[in-house]
Order: sequence, then C-alpha cells, then structure tokens
Amino acid sequence: MSDPVAASARGRFIVFEGADGTGKSTQAARLAERLDAVLTREPGGTPIGSKIRTLVLDPDHPELDDRTETLLMAADRAQHVAEVIGPALASGRHVVSDRHVASSLAYQGVGRGLGVDAVAAVNAFGLDGVRPDLTVLLVLDTSDAQSRIGSPDRIEAAGSGLARAVADAYRSFAADRSDWVVVDASGSIDAVAERVWSAVEEHLT
Ligand code: TYD
Repeated sequence: MSDPVAASARGRFIVFEGADGTGKSTQAARLAERLDAVLTREPGGTPIGSKIRTLVLDPDHPELDDRTETLLMAADRAQHVAEVIGPALASGRHVVSDRHVASSLAYQGVGRGLGVDAVAAVNAFGLDGVRPDLTVLLVLDTSDAQSRIGSPDRIEAAGSGLARAVADAYRSFAADRSDWVVVDASGSIDAVAERVWSAVEEHLT
C-alpha cells in the first residue's frame, strides 16, 4: 500500500459521486483498498442506515414524498457521520464514501426540484461540520450509465429525465471547485482506477 496522504494526523475524507451506473461503488472499493481506508456508503453505511436504505429505496412505496425522502437521506447521513465517518477521521483513518451530501443536493435539490439551498440547510444539522477533503465525480454518458443499471430501485426507476438532471447538477457543482475532481468513467475498471489514483495523488499531497 502506498499512501499519498500519510502525513496528516487526522484522516482524509474522500467521496465518490456520480449518477447511477457510473461505477462509483467499484471505484470507491478500489481506492479504499489502495489507501487502506474505511470504505463506506450512503445510504446504508450503518445498521440504522441500512434500515433507512431499505425503506427509502423500496419500489413498493411510490407514494414516498420528496421531502420525506430528503429527510430520510439526511437522517442516514447524520448517523453515518456520528457512527462511522467522524470517529474514523478522528482516529487518523482515511474514509472513502460511496456518496455523501452532494448526492442529496443533486437528486433531491435539483432532480426532485426542492432547491439546493433548502436541501443543504436540512443536511447541515446532521453533518456536524464534517466536510469531504476531496470529491471524485465520475462522469459517463447518461445512456451508457443507464444501460449498466440492473433491477432499478425506487429512485433509479424515475428514469433518464432525473438521471440527466442529476448529471448536469453534478457538473455544475464541480465547476471551479478545487476540492472536486471530474474523472472520465468510460473504459476498463483498471483504466478508471488509474485516473482516480492520479487525481487523488495530485489533490491530496
Ligand atoms: P446507490 O447506493 O449509489 O445506488 P446503487 O444501488 O446503484 O449502489 O444509491 C442509491 C440511490 O439513492 C441512487 O439512485 C441515488 C439515491 N440517493 C439520493 O437520491 N440521495 C442521496 O442523498 C443519496 C445518498 C442517494
């Protein structure tokens, strides 16, 4: 294992974001292994979060209100910060998370039309000041990404309209942000992993 960020006493928090089907989970796992980091995800990174995940993604509940969806994601995140992310960073471990608050800004704030500022405000309460050191945005053509989705969950079932809005939202979040890096997610898993690694080395050393 080589660690480009070993000098810091506090661990670094690296988040993967992107539309469904861009390969975040695979790349998050690869990076976590290389950094010997805690690998986690939202929603569902804790036992409580896992119950919230089942509820919020259940295709049998199409009546779930968009605001309720937002609050459930924020509740999952609050527990995740308190139970996993905060303690790991404080102990000096790096944390790699498959999604974090930017997912809510993109899916609920833009995709569901609730507003980025409103969704950010709801989430701030649960974040307790925790903030990613680096966000890796994986980008892929929307139809290619959609074709990689197997059996869709409740949110994926919303289809390509939501997916396009989410992809555009992410692009706008990443623009001019030095703590975001945009990585082309096309090609082999190894090729994308190398692009991610170069970006992490460049941004966190
Ligand atoms: P994810 O676990 O990335 O999907 P997969 O089942 O493919 O691994 O995310 C589940 C879904 O939840 C995905 O459609 C994105 C959505 N989501 C939100 O809408 N808001 C959020 O805050 C988060 C974390 C996820």
